[in-house]
Amino acid sequence: MAEAGAKVLVVDDESYVRDIICRKLSRESYECDQAENAEKALALITQGSYECILSDINMPGMDGIELLRNIRVADSDVAVIMVTGAPDLDGALEAMRLGAYDHLCKPLNLDQLSLTVERAIEKKRLVEENREYQRNLESKVQERTKQLHEANEELRRLFMGSIKALAQALEAKDEYTQGHSERVSEIAIGIGRYLSLSEKDISDIWLAGLLHDIGKIGVREAVLNKPGKLNDEEWKSIQNHPVMAERILCPIEELTAVISIVRHHHERFDGSGYPDGLSGSDIPLGARILTVADAYDALTSRRPYRDALSVEDALSVLEDASGTQFDPVIVRAFLSSTELHKLATEKPDRCAEPDSVHDAKQGHGAPAGTLLLKPTDLS
Ligand SMILES: [Fe+2]
Ligand SMILES: [Fe+2]
Repeated sequence: MAEAGAKVLVVDDESYVRDIICRKLSRESYECDQAENAEKALALITQGSYECILSDINMPGMDGIELLRNIRVADSDVAVIMVTGAPDLDGALEAMRLGAYDHLCKPLNLDQLSLTVERAIEKKRLVEENREYQRNLESKVQERTKQLHEANEELRRLFMGSIKALAQALEAKDEYTQGHSERVSEIAIGIGRYLSLSEKDISDIWLAGLLHDIGKIGVREAVLNKPGKLNDEEWKSIQNHPVMAERILCPIEELTAVISIVRHHHERFDGSGYPDGLSGSDIPLGARILTVADAYDALTSRRPYRDALSVEDALSVLEDASGTQFDPVIVRAFLSSTELHKLATEKPDRCAEPDSVHDAKQGHGAPAGTLLLKPTDLS
């Protein structure tokens, strides 16, 4: 079925051929223009848009093959059908290679001609529709990707808000934890950066820092805030906080690596820590980093029974416990990291976290102002 009104350009140096073709196509509702040579054809092509061009190959001046090359430059989509005066295999082949839809031989079979024109135009429109579809698809994909990205960002914001809310819930329970989690996170990622860890590892360590003591939510406030020495049961309850943290966080699949760091942040390098008594490199690297950061913040924070340690004294404790409580490589990294220089310029004046207080069983109840430098004073 002919496309009503479709514009066709007929190019042939013989006027009777052009007339025959145009009469046939006009009867089938095509709108036909004629050009007696390639130059005129190109002029018409630049003025109007044709669905199909029928062109003779052998013409004086620019021949049909050269015209086809020029047409492709001007309009890559127009359907071109070449017409040869005699079986011109080389010309037909070259035309097909240049993107002609088909070729017809003179004398023309007019029914075949109209069928070929119809199919050529149909194919051109299909190509255009397909391209338009692809374009729409690409913009839809881009739009969807943007929406997904925004949704992911929103989820990430919600997720981070929940994590911070969890950390704050613990801090609201006990004044001694004020800001502790965030400081531990900052110190720990400073060490992570010094060790050139991946962004993923650093992000995990940062989250683990925020969440490491979240298990204390499950510890009774009376125990957390007990001014006196803890009994065995109370001490066990405190020591259970890394396992409790794991239970709280385990429904969040994305936190698998973070949970492992949190669970092991009280392991000691020599294997005498808790909850699993892991030693050396069996302790996840993130946990070994967090332990040093946690201890440093605890040491430089004020306790109910003593002032905060100076930076120098705190570092001395870390160095003394290097290789026993702490991974010596991590202590060395902390001492060398720029994070330390930043911390050294701050005046520590804050409260220690409760497990540091309770872990220090021997030192508990010491008079204010006493410096406790034993490694066991650390959480
Ligand atoms: Fe802890
Ligand atoms: Fe802590």
